[in-house]
Amino acid sequence: MDAMAEDLVVLREILQRELETINAYEKMIERVADPRLRQIIEHVTDEEREHVSEMYQLIMERDERQKERALRSEEQLRTMHLTSAPAHPPAGEAKAPTAAREAGLSDSLLVPAAEDPFPPPPPIFPDGAWSVGGMKGRPQQGPDAAGSQ
Ligand SMILES: [Fe+2]
Repeated sequence: MDAMAEDLVVLREILQRELETINAYEKMIERVADPRLRQIIEHVTDEEREHVSEMYQLIMERDERQKERALRSEEQLRTMHLTSAPAHPPAGEAKAPTAAREAGLSDSLLVPAAEDPFPPPPPIFPDGAWSVGGMKGRPQQGPDAAGSQ
């Protein structure tokens, strides 16, 4: 198997795990009593949904047959009235060059922060301590704080 084919296999494996993760997190949310914690997990779950879209986009950019089948299946779903997606993406919008586009990459995954429909929830610890990761519970410090200890 060549390197590009292996890349596709990896992307498909990640897509599979992202979908499984969404299912797992939704089950976990049902078990959590603390509403703030539920909010955090719901946000993380939404990030997994973004990962699903990102992985699928990357797969379609690398697998022409997948892309062809995706277009064909969209049409089939439309014929069966099982989707409300438009037949074609909105046309006519001239796009300004972006760094991603100039590098030959799709920028369809980029969402400006101001338009993020799922902004992160406020931190659990309002004193500025980390709420996740290895620094959990420790106050965040600026770059010049490291040398002062
Ligand atoms: Fe993920």
